[in-house]
Amino acid sequence: MGIGGSDMYRQQILDHYKNPRNYGELQDPTFTHVGENPVCGDTIEMDVVLADSEETIERVAFRGDGCAISQASASMLSEELAGMAVDDLLELDRDDIIDMLGVEISAMRVKCAVLAEKVAQDGTEIYFGEKDDINRTTTEDGSDST
Ligand code: FES
Repeated sequence: MGIGGSDMYRQQILDHYKNPRNYGELQDPTFTHVGENPVCGDTIEMDVVLADSEETIERVAFRGDGCAISQASASMLSEELAGMAVDDLLELDRDDIIDMLGVEISAMRVKCAVLAEKVAQDGTEIYFGEKDDINRTTTEDGSDST
């Protein structure tokens, strides 16, 4: 699968890949955003519900099609995001995602790892009018530190 790291973390990634958490759709999401890794065409679409204050993420659901890293990363991130402050989401970077996954990832696969993070961040920034409404996020747009 092209990832290094301890067996425990690899098992965890495979578990999230095979049994993704928060997979599906949410009723009446605050916003929905989709992104893809153009290298392979794999996609993640994410529904986000914000708390009434709009300062905190209440729930996230995603669906997608792609490699184990991209889908496991989306699954793990969906768990992390529930209850997270919107500001904290916007400060996440690739290192946070790699730490979350707990494995060494080649430069090529970093794009897989950060796809869900970029979808969540772009969707949030578009919702708050901090970013132009782009149809679809890609891992090639260089909009964060990846
Ligand atoms: Fe497509 Fe990983 S190979 S996102």
